[in-house]
Order: sequence, then structure tokens, then C-alpha cells
Amino acid sequence: MSDQLDLTAYENKSLLRFMTSGSVDDGKSTLIGRLLYETNCIFEDQFAAVEKTSHQRGDDRVDLALLLDGLAAEREQGITIDVAYRYFTTARRKFIIADTPGHEQYTRNMVTGASTSELAIILIDARHGVMTQSKRHGFLISLLQIPHLVVAVNKMDLVDYGEEVYQKIVKEYSEFSQKLDIHDISFIPISALDGDNVTTRSEKMPWYQGHTLLHMLENVHVSADKNFVDFRFPVQSVLRPNLDFRGFSGTISSGTIKVGEEVAALPSGKESRVKSIVTYDGDLDEAFAGQAVTITLEDEIDISRGDMIVRKNNLPLVGNEFDVNLCWMDEEPMNPRSHYLLKHTTQKVKAYVSGIQYKIDVNTLHREDADQFTLNEIGRVTIKTARPLFFDNYRVNHGTGSFILIDPLTNRTVAAGMIRGQARDVEQVMRTQHASNRQSTNIRWEGGVVSMADWERRNGHKGAVLWCTGFSGSGKSTVAKALVKSLFGQGCQVMMLDGDNVRHGLCGDLGFSDQDRSENIRRVGETAKLFYEQGNIVVCTFISPFQADRDFVRSALPEGAFHELFIKCDLEVCKRRDPKGLYKKALAGEIKDFTGIDSPYEEPANPEITVETDLHSVEEIVAELEVYLRQLKILQ
Ligand code: ADX
Repeated sequence: MSDQLDLTAYENKSLLRFMTSGSVDDGKSTLIGRLLYETNCIFEDQFAAVEKTSHQRGDDRVDLALLLDGLAAEREQGITIDVAYRYFTTARRKFIIADTPGHEQYTRNMVTGASTSELAIILIDARHGVMTQSKRHGFLISLLQIPHLVVAVNKMDLVDYGEEVYQKIVKEYSEFSQKLDIHDISFIPISALDGDNVTTRSEKMPWYQGHTLLHMLENVHVSADKNFVDFRFPVQSVLRPNLDFRGFSGTISSGTIKVGEEVAALPSGKESRVKSIVTYDGDLDEAFAGQAVTITLEDEIDISRGDMIVRKNNLPLVGNEFDVNLCWMDEEPMNPRSHYLLKHTTQKVKAYVSGIQYKIDVNTLHREDADQFTLNEIGRVTIKTARPLFFDNYRVNHGTGSFILIDPLTNRTVAAGMIRGQARDVEQVMRTQHASNRQSTNIRWEGGVVSMADWERRNGHKGAVLWCTGFSGSGKSTVAKALVKSLFGQGCQVMMLDGDNVRHGLCGDLGFSDQDRSENIRRVGETAKLFYEQGNIVVCTFISPFQADRDFVRSALPEGAFHELFIKCDLEVCKRRDPKGLYKKALAGEIKDFTGIDSPYEEPANPEITVETDLHSVEEIVAELEVYLRQLKILQ
């Protein structure tokens, strides 16, 4: 009977997730070892082994850091383990420590460990005082919005438990942290090695009137820090064990959900109600953030991995360009011209850094100009994704507001980002995206009778969409015509879609507002796709001034099919050329919304190829493009 009561008490205990930051030298492992040991969360034999090793090494004290050595060895073998979780429990609370190993890679480990932590402990070695690293960690904790910070001044035994040493560190770090967005900071002098102020009050530091570290951990108030409002359920997989059951599995990222509640699936926007919430331990009436569940719906709607189920009247934001706080975590510096894979909830999309606003000097918290970030640098950038994402600002939702960037070549996680908001209004793109979603469900895709491989074999080349973008008068059509002529001469199956021509018919109803241009690009993009699917090399010439629209066409095509060719030409040269006399009219105010005059042009951030028509002849450029096509084996 008493056992059962204890068990209930255990189940009902609140949980605190926290992380420790600092290197092994700061005494992090010793501190964790001490907490586990003093809360009786290690076994006798484990302690005996550690005791024995310590004595063998001639140490006069038991080195509790050795408890974590087994774990460290595991990590060295399995390079994929970034964070190890340690559990312990006291009469008041259950604890999970995200133990983040490593010296150099601390930023990355911190970010990985921090996403779910409610409290962070920064260890400062009393002998060394406040180091750059302690400030960097504080800044990261502020960016990561971990609500509670404990600065533990460790190794007090090595500075004779001196109050002055401690107060100096407290003063310096307090001054620094005033500039941070952390509302709850406590300081504590400890000796992890001897156990002073860890779980019991130290007699050696009578001048310290505060609580022990464990007392702080047991009493910090955390439940209000969680997001229980915005239900976000990124679908990890679709379960269909038999015809009568179709469930969507995943972990609830935030919020709560009940059976019977109205939900919407994104991106389709289709609505339904929750029929059941299934778990291994039986069905639930209600589920919360952090729970892994399978949700079934009352209606058969199309949902696949990477989609998100949300409450009908509480939708996330949608966008494909983000204003972001980014921590660079790879030895290899950021390459602003590279594509990365962005992993956000259960989705992976192609992305690149489309702009760098500044990086932060973590010592002064001042902003500095930057062209790239190197290891452990932190700053503010814009990131563009090939497809729109459903997201929230990190401030309100850590799960749907954060992401990592992966280098597709090395598969390494190179950066972690926290979304501050949407960088550009991409409603436009979404409108076209939705417009491109079929309106009628009574249509199906008619597969071709000739396969892509058959087309390629007969044509002797691969299909491709060569997308020329640039100002009016930059030479898009001239280059495209010469290229088409040359390819035709070589027996290629080639097509051209030109801005002026499509605007006579297919897009004759459209003008030059931003919205009309987006719709123009959507239509011709879809047309190019149909031609591409029948083995053609499709050469498109459109000003297509917005990156989001070009990215939309790219994302509509299979990977590698879309080639963005930036036809670069100085605007002044275009004005001088003025082949159609339109710049003259635009400058005279006779034409409105003219690109380069009173309508913007976004230069491609990451074009596959750039050619400069004000520097090279048409022949040279065509030759260059053909070399490119051969390199990619589009041409044999
Ligand atoms: S896009 O912006 O929607 O991609 P598109 O390439 O189809 O433009 O059409 C551009 C052509 O339309 C130009 O080459 C020019 O001849 C003509 N034109 C007429 N009015 C404008 C305008 N306001 N801005 C740009 N081009 C214009």
C-alpha cells in the first residue's frame, strides 16, 4: 500500500528540465556527478567503481566526474549523440539534465540541449572569473529564451572561499546580463568537488545567505513558461495498419488538443474534427505539448508527413523568408552562396542565407558588419526557403520557431536558428500557391504515354528549365534566342517562353502590379513544367523580379530541373539600350510600375549561373551556357 502511495507521489511530481553549460574544466561533470550522487540516483557499485579509480589515481577525494566518463566514451563512439540526458529525482521534483559535452562545439551542444530546457546553469571557475565563453553562453540563453539562469561560481575551495572573489564575479556578470533578455538570474558560490552549497549549505561560506543549488532547482516556478495555447502538431508519419484506421503520428509541439475539437490540416487548409487520440497506453480525451500521440480525424482528408495539424481558429504564420537569430556551429564558415537543408519540425526544405544583417560581439553585445559567420558566431540574418513553412515566432513557440541548417554534402548540422518573424510579405506567393492547388477534385493527373527516360533517349539530352531573369533590356531575349537557335541546330528538343509573347495571350489579362507579376510567373512556370515533363529544354525569359516567385517555380519542378540564369546588366546600360523605348516612357511617368524605375528587382541570391551582357558578347555567353549544360550532362 505504501509503495503505491509513493508511486503516485512520484507520478505527480513536477518535472524540471535544465541544462548545464561550461566545459569539463569548469567542473560541469563533477557538478552533475555530485547531484546524482547526493540525491541517491547512482547505484552502490557505480560509486564503488568511481571511488576505486580515484584512489588508484592517488586522489584523496572521490572524483564524481568519473561517473560521467562512461557516457563520454559512448559519445565519442557515436558521433550522433549531441546531448545526453541524465535523470534524478528528489522528494519534491523530477529532473532531466541535458548534459552537453564538448569544448569547441559548445554553442551547438547548447542549442541542441536548450530547446526544451526551462533553466540553465552557467558554471564559472572562481579562479578565472567571467570569460568570453560565459558571456557567450549567457547571450545564447537569452536568445534561446530559457527563462531561468543560475550562475554557479564553482571551485570556491580553490580561492579560499573568498567572498570578494565571488562578489567581483557577481558584479561583472550582473552588469553584462542587464543587457540580456533574461528576467530571472541567481548567483551561487559552490564547490562541486566538495559539495559546498550543492545540496547542503556550506559551513565554509557563512557570508552566503542564499539557498543551495538543489533548493533553487526544486523551487523554481516553471509551468507558466510553457506554451499551452497554440496547438501545433507536425505530422511525423501516417499510420494505416488497415483500411478502417488512418492515424497521424507525431509529438505535440505546443498546446493541447481534445477529442471533438475542430482542426485544420496545413498546407491544404482542409478541416475536420479530432475523432480519437491514440497512445500505446490507450486512448486519451486530451493530450498536451510534449506527448507522442496518434490522432485520427472524423473525415478522410489528405495529410502526409511534414504537414501540420492545428486548431482551426489558431493558425501559425506562413512564409518563405525569415528574419532569424542564427548561431553558426560548423568549423566550415557559412557560405552565403550555398544551399543548405533546413530542418523545421518534421520538414526538410532547401534554403539559403539571403542576407546578413549583423553579427554580435558577445563581449560587448555590439553589432558588427559581416559577410559570413564562422564557428560559434551569432547574429541576425534572413533565410529563404524553397517552399513556404508554417511557423511561429520563437518567442511564442520554441518548437515551431526554431530550425537547424544541414550541409547537404557533409550531412553536418551547421547552424541553429530562432525565427524572429517573417522577412518579406509572401502572402503573394501563398496566394499563387493556393491558386495553383486544384480547385476541382474531379480531375486527376494524366500520366504521359512516353516516359521521361524515353524522351531523353530519343532526344539525346535531358529536359531542363533554363530560367533567364533580369531587367528589361538586359538582353534576356537576345541571349535566349541565340541559345535556342544553337540548340535547335544541334537537334535538341527546345522551347522558348518569352515575357512579351505570353502577355499577348495566356497572360494577356495581367498587368505589372506585384500580384500580377506573381501570377504571370506562376502560369508560365506551370507551363514550363508541362513542357519539361515531355523532355524539352525550356528556355524562359521573364523579368521575374521577385525571388519568391522564382523559388516557387523551382519548387514546383523536380530537384535539379530548374536553372536560374541571371542575365546581369547594369541598369544604366539597360536604360541606354532601351530597345523598346519603355525606359524613356517610364522615366517620363507615362508607364507605371516599371522594373528598375518605380518597381523593384530582387537580384538572384543564388543563381546557378550569372552572365554579364554588358561585358561579354552574345556568342561568348551562349558558348558559356552550353559548357554549363554539358557539365551538368543535360547535353551529351
Ligand atoms: S514580369 O515582371 O512579369 O516577369 P515579363 O517578363 O512578363 O515581366 O514582361 C516584361 C516585358 O513587358 C518587358 O520586356 C517590357 O517589354 C514589357 N513591359 C511593359 N510594361 C512594363 C513594366 N511596367 N515593367 C516591366 N516591363 C514592362
